[in-house]
Amino acid sequence: MTNAKVYYLHEGLPRQAPGSDDSTWGALRRLGPIPADAVVLDVGCGPGRSALALALCLKARVTAIDIHQPCLDELSAASMLLGVSKLVTPRKRSMANMKLKPGTFDLIWAEGSAYFLGIRRSLETWLPLLNDDGHIAFTELCWCVRSSGLAHFAHLIWPTWTVDILSPGRLAFLCRPGGSRAWRRPKGDAGLAARG
Ligand SMILES: C[S@@+](CC[C@H](N)C(=O)[O-])C[C@H]1O[C@@H](n2cnc3c(N)ncnc32)[C@H](O)[C@@H]1O
Repeated sequence: MTNAKVYYLHEGLPRQAPGSDDSTWGALRRLGPIPADAVVLDVGCGPGRSALALALCLKARVTAIDIHQPCLDELSAASMLLGVSKLVTPRKRSMANMKLKPGTFDLIWAEGSAYFLGIRRSLETWLPLLNDDGHIAFTELCWCVRSSGLAHFAHLIWPTWTVDILSPGRLAFLCRPGGSRAWRRPKGDAGLAARG
């Protein structure tokens, strides 16, 4: 499987990873209060359902990053239809090097995209972009059963895939404290992700 084939499979889908508006809003509620003038980053936004949900729910400015221009075009069109085009800014950038100012964001959101970098590298790369009270929330691929056969099968389908897929337990450990999928950076502990 190549990226072109994956884009072909996904083309036209409003969401390109597991999730729903309800699950986006549910995760948002679990984060607790987000400032009224929050600045939000949606990484690997695809056609942007989560970016739109965040803009609509928080009335926040959302920068939505993806490398695939057709997805960003879909997001632009949808944000105009929903009347949030002033809030949502699609940008064609790689999540590995977003060229964004450190300490800027109240919230970094990533649904079904962190595994393109690997969760460790994602957290290390994105963490400096958060302000002191900021949050990162993401969904992630996990192995729910241990099987070298499955890993081998995955490698056959996608031979260029090099990123580690963790077990839920390992992922929760990496994202401590709290062990939840929504992860809060403790003040003064910028090395947490790197140590996981
Ligand atoms: C599985 S899709 C999920 C899209 C969206 N978050 C959703 O839930 O519908 C993963 C997205 O990550 C994007 N992506 C992959 N590698 C990327 C990179 N290096 N930088 C930015 N985006 C990337 C892809 O273009 C794709 O739109």
